[in-house]
Amino acid sequence: MALTDLPDVDVLKIPQDFPPGELFTIPPVLAELRDNRPLCPVQMPSGNRLWLVTRYADVRFVMHDPRFSRNLVFPGAPRMAGEDLTSVEGSLFNMEGPDHTRLRTVLASAFTRRAADGWRSTTQTHAHDLIDRIERSGSEADLVADFSVPLVARIAGDLMGITPQEHEWTQDRIRRQLDLLGGPEQIAGATADLAELAGRLVDRNGRPDSEATGLVATLARAACEESISRQEAVSTTALLLMNVTDPLVPPLTVGIMTLLLHGDQLAQCKRDPQRWPEAVREVLRYHNNGITNFPRVALEDVDCHGGRITAGEGVITSALAAAHDPRAFIDPGVFDIGRSEKGSVFFGAGPHFCLGSALALSVLATAYAVLFERLDGLRLSVEPHEVKRADDGFFACPENLPVTW
Ligand code: HEM
Repeated sequence: MALTDLPDVDVLKIPQDFPPGELFTIPPVLAELRDNRPLCPVQMPSGNRLWLVTRYADVRFVMHDPRFSRNLVFPGAPRMAGEDLTSVEGSLFNMEGPDHTRLRTVLASAFTRRAADGWRSTTQTHAHDLIDRIERSGSEADLVADFSVPLVARIAGDLMGITPQEHEWTQDRIRRQLDLLGGPEQIAGATADLAELAGRLVDRNGRPDSEATGLVATLARAACEESISRQEAVSTTALLLMNVTDPLVPPLTVGIMTLLLHGDQLAQCKRDPQRWPEAVREVLRYHNNGITNFPRVALEDVDCHGGRITAGEGVITSALAAAHDPRAFIDPGVFDIGRSEKGSVFFGAGPHFCLGSALALSVLATAYAVLFERLDGLRLSVEPHEVKRADDGFFACPENLPVTW
């Protein structure tokens, strides 16, 4: 039956019907859907109905299969909550086929191995500086306000060439844009504001006398050389404004908390620093980012689990549910940095696989290493269940993380 014909009672509402589990863990309803309704109709805050897929194999299938398109730049396209980043024309995120490959190749040239070494040392410098400040101010801290947020802000500033004021302004607009419960005007306004700042950044980086390097400069230079259009440079810069910050603060913060709650595994990482990347991967698997990823649209009818996704209908994947699928992971509810299964989908899969994955892994592993090595004896200063959730309806992230050492 087509999505629009289904009775309301059969359609689950996101986020209302997906309350999180204890201590920032996966909403329990996702396990039930994975077993009993692997193709489940859901209604997004936008009012759009989409098919939610939750099994590991199905999530990878949707991310890989060209019959599901990320190009949602058309009137009436399925959306999460409003005209968010999926509505922006010319953004890498929203393109498919040869144009996507052309733009992706340009941006990928900024994500080199040499750049990765630079990100590691930048992260180290900023992390040490923030911990110097934390130590100077006493023996208590809130690791959200004093560590995660300023660390990611500084890295984003360096990567995007933005001032701290621009960063703060950007964060406000991103919060409004990703607020699942914000109204359509709020979301469209924030998207337009981000595009305007992105335009200024591209112009700043593309001036003939500019010696800038990095992500925006790479796009601005390609636009000057006309291998991509100005609109592609601007729209992709707007995407990066979000991507260099927003997906990093939640795993950094919730990861610190989870490692504190698994002291034996934390001790293994401290004894053998080679294990920090394993810890990061397990944090990303265990918590992932958000209940779902962004939507796709079916370009033709696709049969799945005895149902039919009709051409034009929206499909949304839950990489979080996939990461806890017992068909792919042994004891998925157990946090285990030593697990041997590979191939999670926290960075997506297929043509839109996260371009920033190496950067994200490097920043998170370096940040954990510096924090836990410097603040020996670090522990929560409240009971774990007292840690409040930042309530934006999208990411599982503590609002604050009070600690002592
Ligand atoms: C832990 C942090 C991160 C996670 C979990 C994450 C996750 C993802 C996922 C799941 C996608 C695919 C979306 C889809 O197919 O629907 C994606 C795409 C993307 N990510 Fe990330 N990301 C992270 C950090 C970053 C960072 C730091 C950057 C950039 C500096 C970045 C840049 C991108 C870009 C440019 C795309 C679009 C690629 C394309 O459409 O071809 N990401 N990311």
